Amino acid sequence: MTEPDNASVRLLGRDRTPFLPGRLFVDGEWITRAGDLEAWQAAARSDEAVTTQMAGAVPSSSASMPTVVKAMLDACDVHPGHRVLEIGAGTGYTAALLADRVGPTGSVVTVEVDPDVAESARRNLDATGVPNVDVVCADGFDGRPSSGPYDRVHVTCAIRHMPSAWLEQCLDGKIVMPWGPAFSTERVVSLRVRDGEAVGRFGEVASFMVMRSQRSRAWDEWPDGGETKPVSLGPDWARLDGPLGGFGEFVIGLLLPGVTHRTSGDDPAVGERVLSLERDGRYASVGFGAGVETNAAGDEALVQEYADAVRWWYDHGRPESSGFGLTVRPNGARARQCVWFGSPAGPSWEH
Ligand SMILES: C[S@@+](CC[C@H](N)C(=O)[O-])C[C@H]1O[C@@H](n2cnc3c(N)ncnc32)[C@H](O)[C@@H]1O
Repeated sequence: MTEPDNASVRLLGRDRTPFLPGRLFVDGEWITRAGDLEAWQAAARSDEAVTTQMAGAVPSSSASMPTVVKAMLDACDVHPGHRVLEIGAGTGYTAALLADRVGPTGSVVTVEVDPDVAESARRNLDATGVPNVDVVCADGFDGRPSSGPYDRVHVTCAIRHMPSAWLEQCLDGKIVMPWGPAFSTERVVSLRVRDGEAVGRFGEVASFMVMRSQRSRAWDEWPDGGETKPVSLGPDWARLDGPLGGFGEFVIGLLLPGVTHRTSGDDPAVGERVLSLERDGRYASVGFGAGVETNAAGDEALVQEYADAVRWWYDHGRPESSGFGLTVRPNGARARQCVWFGSPAGPSWEH
């Protein structure tokens, strides 16, 4: 009889099952190993992220999707003897994979902000006999200066603002993180650190839970947008695929530093849709759709800036996210983040 497929073993050479708690949140409900062993094992062996902790309705800790874990580890390029700093211990599974790669001459420090999660990572690493991993309960924004410098920084929570601390603790090496603008979910970026700056291009899509102190404001505080007026967004607006169709949210987010958004849906068959935009307490909304006159409410400059970003993207041949990259330099607690197009010397946007 053939063994059932286990994505973590196949892709990463180590089973994630022993790192998972007896209760997993899958497809909107908790399943337990004791109550439904088959469903629990199917989730544990799948190539999907599994949520291991919820804070109310929001997932607050998980074991990431094995395919994404592999993409990040490949980008991290860890070698025997390396000293690695991980941010976001979670279950301890990726710390174990890092320990496998650094071997007995290397070391792994993993920093987890949640005390319960840190404790379970410690237990899991002990129970599976993984050596050379130090689990520290602290805010990963500060890194872990006392154990540095590091050859690699591997980050498993989504970052909107990279701290300077990671650059100061990894002087010549690599920082791999899921990074996203305020507007959208993330992409993996692998930054080469040298001469006080970190530079790299955006890679795979990777949707992670955002670093706890960097979550954006709840949208239920959305104010009344005020009067809705027809708006002209330039002669070629109608020719665009529509403000939400056919483009990568990530790329538009790169062109709109600090802007967050939500939409009323993405089904083009449904008459009017509304795109809501926010930056620094300024709000705007754009209503659009097939056969509907485009209208806007709220901050006109924000609407125009959004339209300019969409047009810029079209005028440059609708580049994919891999056409863009990030340069990070130390600058107080939060590093200075500069997104560029083409090359580090190309057009750029400060985030
Ligand atoms: C996707 S999970 C980590 C997955 C983990 N590497 C694994 O193998 O299971 C993200 C983790 O980042 C942690 N986290 C969030 N903000 C953090 C912060 N400021 N410092 C350290 N850890 C943080 C969360 O508590 C959560 O456990």
